[in-house]
Amino acid sequence: MMKVRKRIVTSVMILAAAVFVSGMFLAGRNGGFTDAAAYIACMIDGEETVESPKKIALTFDDGPHPYYTEQLLDGLKERGAKASFFVMGKQAEAYPEIVLRMQEEGHLIGNHTYSHLQLGKGNRETFKSELIRTNELLLQITGEEPQYVRPPYGSWDKSFESELTMIPVLWTIDPMDWCSSDVSGIVQKVAKKAKENGVILMHDEYKSSVTAALEIVDILQKEGYEFVTVDEILFD
Ligand code: NI
Repeated sequence: MMKVRKRIVTSVMILAAAVFVSGMFLAGRNGGFTDAAAYIACMIDGEETVESPKKIALTFDDGPHPYYTEQLLDGLKERGAKASFFVMGKQAEAYPEIVLRMQEEGHLIGNHTYSHLQLGKGNRETFKSELIRTNELLLQITGEEPQYVRPPYGSWDKSFESELTMIPVLWTIDPMDWCSSDVSGIVQKVAKKAKENGVILMHDEYKSSVTAALEIVDILQKEGYEFVTVDEILFD
């Protein structure tokens, strides 16, 4: 049964391809024959001819910064790269137009608490209220409630995930960009550790970080990487 069905499907495909080829000849299009031949080969083969790119995610914490974040957004746009921004509530409140721009340009916006609070033993409720306050702020600005959170310093309590319906996002590559202004050092660290489905941690409040991030995009795009928002890596 399957064999018969397969044969019918193949015949239909070949017939469709033949119609396509004659169409190309009749239309007298330049290069029509080569295109059509490639098309048939692809249909019969049933294999993709284009290799899918390796995905990698750039993530930026602590912004938006009134100057450097815009510079970064310009550079990402030029390169067709997407990123994820884990913003601090108080920064988003001060620069809502930058948050809106992030959204308009297809970047992911996540929560990094209101004041960069580190979750500790005695501040669970304050920490939670900072997350809620920042979610509300971001909802007001973008019309969307954030689903992703990057806890400052990586301190997290799993029960928040169900309490707030939020997903924590950590990282796999940390070039420690916040403690160095050595652009090429930062670039090298990331380039060396880059891997498919990697999550790079950086900060958009420093000039050196922004310069390094754009160099990283240039280098890794040449190596076949595609810069995607972090949700595409977490759920793939
Ligand atoms: Ni931070």
